[in-house]
Amino acid sequence: MAENEQELRAAAREFGQEHVFHFWDSLDEAGRASLLHDLGQVDFKLMARLAKEWILNKPEPEHFKEISPVPVIPKTDPSRPDAQEAWEAGEAALRAGRVGLFLVAGGQGTRLGFDGPKGSYPIGGITGKTLFEYHADKVVALQRTYGCVLPWYIMVSEANGPATEAFFRDNDCFGLNAKDIAFLTQRMVPCMDENGKFLLERSDHLAMNPNGHGGCLTAMVECGVLDDARSRGVDFLSYFQVDNWAVKVADPYFIGYHVLRGSSMSSKNHRKHFPREAVGVHCLCDGEYRVIEYSELDIYPQLLETDSEGKVVYYAGNPAIHILSVDFVQQVYEKFDEFPWHLAHKKIAYIDDSGALVLPEKPNGYKFETFVFDALRFATHPPVALEIDPPGEYTPTKQFDGENSVVEARASMSRYWSHWLDAAGTTVPRDSAGNPTIAIEISPRFALTQEQFVTKSKAKPWPVTQDLYIDGSGVVRASINRN
Ligand code: UD1
Repeated sequence: MAENEQELRAAAREFGQEHVFHFWDSLDEAGRASLLHDLGQVDFKLMARLAKEWILNKPEPEHFKEISPVPVIPKTDPSRPDAQEAWEAGEAALRAGRVGLFLVAGGQGTRLGFDGPKGSYPIGGITGKTLFEYHADKVVALQRTYGCVLPWYIMVSEANGPATEAFFRDNDCFGLNAKDIAFLTQRMVPCMDENGKFLLERSDHLAMNPNGHGGCLTAMVECGVLDDARSRGVDFLSYFQVDNWAVKVADPYFIGYHVLRGSSMSSKNHRKHFPREAVGVHCLCDGEYRVIEYSELDIYPQLLETDSEGKVVYYAGNPAIHILSVDFVQQVYEKFDEFPWHLAHKKIAYIDDSGALVLPEKPNGYKFETFVFDALRFATHPPVALEIDPPGEYTPTKQFDGENSVVEARASMSRYWSHWLDAAGTTVPRDSAGNPTIAIEISPRFALTQEQFVTKSKAKPWPVTQDLYIDGSGVVRASINRN
């Protein structure tokens, strides 16, 4: 993109955004470079289109004649023949090095109120191990199990990229090979006011936000991820979100169904328990595969319906776990002009013409984002929708306490791992509701599955009189440990 003053001035003038140069004469060299850097990222034509379509014209929400529940592959019962076949196909793809990992970690994580990349949040209640370390432990274990390399692509944003890379460096990439980890930075998009004008956050800086996790579909091509993946023989990318501690990274079942059904993009889903659960809903809208965001449920009230037993009819909640075929990402990239954008009305801090900072008390502008699940509508082969059980697969951590929180995630993982201990013959102390009365953490390096855990436990009783952490070597530790 251009970083040349004349070119950018001309573009700003053409699209009615020349006011962003208001403070130019007072800026020093670094300030001018900063402003040009921001403007160099801007797709002026796109922003003009978004302003016209969304801000100046306020379109009606999309209308569908028919919305129906998405057909799902029921929860994986390992004894079902199709599940066995999928497991084998997934394992074969892993062994053959056809799988890579794609982590989206570019979000701002403001709800958690944590100062730092969300992945550096100390999620382990006993160990203080971070989300990144837990994800990395799974990668180490998978590589060992399948004798493969899983290249790990991590999408960051300008806001958290340097801190994320430094965190990996300071932790020696958690024992992974640095050359198998690549960071890519998603693009930023300018925020706009009620008239479609860009806002200045500082005299030398536009108010901008990351372009949403859908930005991975352009970043993968533009930052060389697809080229790197192809050069390694990787055909499928296992996509997951940084805030999901429990996620089964590169799950063989999921990969297997994706491979066997020739899917372009596959998604996991989980049963919603109540209509307003804060998750997107997988459904078919006029026959096209969509995810409707929880913030849009009132636009499509049928998605809030329950049946005579009180169960949610459109139950396929979105845990944001996908598999993307490398070729499919390329195809979506080629059509990215048609990719949908979403806007959010927000309070956006800005400086006025005198340079004074304004902190609005009510929404004063718009942020535009793209969502990766919108790629499902571009799928050339029917997407696989695989149902999962959230325990041990999905523990979103959006805030510290309450729904989808750190506190819930820790309780959920302790409960999940307590069943492994039961299966290995150790009786875990529980309260009257059946929840363990101790906190439990088990390193994925020791076991990724209950079966592995039971085998490695060798009928050895685990000490469960106090909080229990089993490290990667199967050693019981009292507190923080770095394997
Ligand atoms: C998201 C999904 C929702 C799903 C829920 C599951 C959206 C719009 N909705 O909700 O359907 O049920 O997760 O937990 O995503 N990210 C980036 N770049 C960005 C924005 C986000 O990398 O520009 C990453 C974040 O780092 C995070 C993930 O995307 O890993 C999701 O962002 P988050 O804000 O947590 O999404 P939710 O609104 O909670």
